[in-house]
Amino acid sequence: MSQRVAILISGSGSNMVALAQSMQGDHPGRPCLVLANDPAAGGLAKAEAMGIPTAVVDHRPYRGDRAGFEAELVRALAAAQPDLIALAGFMRVLTPDFVARYEGRMLNIHPSLLPKYKGLDTHARAIAAGDSEAGCTVHEVTAALDDGPILGQARVPILPGDTPETLAARVLPLEHRLYPLVLRRVLEGERSPIALL
Ligand code: GAR
Repeated sequence: MSQRVAILISGSGSNMVALAQSMQGDHPGRPCLVLANDPAAGGLAKAEAMGIPTAVVDHRPYRGDRAGFEAELVRALAAAQPDLIALAGFMRVLTPDFVARYEGRMLNIHPSLLPKYKGLDTHARAIAAGDSEAGCTVHEVTAALDDGPILGQARVPILPGDTPETLAARVLPLEHRLYPLVLRRVLEGERSPIALL
């Protein structure tokens, strides 16, 4: 029986699309839910077009009440019964309680070569630091932000004249290759880190 994968998004959902499109044929996973914290997230319409159930838990009414917001996330997830949760551009910080509930069953993609540049503005920070390369990382989610065992990385050179935008545009297609690759490996029980060549 295939394993159920819930994908959490905040924005355009291009990584979600890459993950969902990969889960076909003999793939061990199938998308069971796309869950957004923003009703305007562009990825919701893309998920609907692919026939994937969607749900929204708008974080804004829960200002100052992270536990209340997460209780609604848990409720939506419980209804979908995922075996694995993939954060795909989900831009809310999750509490240790939430993370513990799904310990070992939640992945994230982050647009830097972790452990460098946790948090936001990763590409701008890599350029400002004079780094020669940038990239993306898929990792297991643990209580600390953008921490947790690394499952895969992809690298690109930083070129003279790169801006955060040009760099992001070169990294994103690699995210779309790396995340499905790691997802499949994890569903098959393989968690050794892999480098995308
Ligand atoms: C991606 O670049 C992803 O790595 C990043 O947000 C973008 C989402 O794009 N995630 C983070 O910054 C997480 N801290 P998408 O909605 O098109 O997949």
